[in-house]
Amino acid sequence: MSKLSLDRILQSQGFGTRKYCRALIEDGDVAVNGEIVDNYKLTVDTEGLVLTVFDEEWVYREYVYIALYKPANFECSRKPSHHPGVLTLLPEQFAWRDVQPVGRLDHDTTGLLLMSDDGPFIHAQSSPKRHVPKVYQATTAEPVTPELVQQLLDGVQLHDEPAPLRAVSCVQRGENGIEIVLEQGKYHQVKRMLAAAGNHCSALHRSAIGGLTLESLGLKEGEWCFLEQAQLDLLVPTQG
Ligand code: URA
Repeated sequence: MSKLSLDRILQSQGFGTRKYCRALIEDGDVAVNGEIVDNYKLTVDTEGLVLTVFDEEWVYREYVYIALYKPANFECSRKPSHHPGVLTLLPEQFAWRDVQPVGRLDHDTTGLLLMSDDGPFIHAQSSPKRHVPKVYQATTAEPVTPELVQQLLDGVQLHDEPAPLRAVSCVQRGENGIEIVLEQGKYHQVKRMLAAAGNHCSALHRSAIGGLTLESLGLKEGEWCFLEQAQLDLLVPTQG
């Protein structure tokens, strides 16, 4: 249980600066568990807290864990340069509370992207030591051959890597498609592995991270949802 003043709570949830949050409260725009409170100094228990701000309900969350179905032509970078950033797909509050992508997808890659404002969670999930399998569907420019699949399973050498990188699994899907599972998250890894194996990736989609699948979340492109503990528990590494 944690008790905080109402203005701090509002700020922590991304409603704006402390000054702005105080003004919201004093103007009578904020209800705490259904009752308007206009004293911003009031200390409130955050356990099970539901705020109403401008008639919209907001369940208090110390941290947020979000799954986004990333569409193409959005950048994961903090300072996007050529396309809008993925944060523009989420309510403004999330930018205020410094929600960031967990790892990155290229601007033209679609699919499951995790986002959070929990620094240790982001760090742990992005650590190269944490081998959470990630499932990708790649469309290839040239037809997929059994040799290509075998090469990806055996390992391909990328220029700046000390050792060959191999797919955990790789299955042909149609003439120009493969489903490839990787445990590392190196820069442009799928595209570079396909190029190193003599093909070219023309489209890429991430359908799952660990046991968490985009399908199970029922999201459409551009949609997002909160992840609860049972879903976070599916982000399990295969080893150490
Ligand atoms: N590998 C890539 O090449 N691009 C991505 O976006 C993700 C994995």
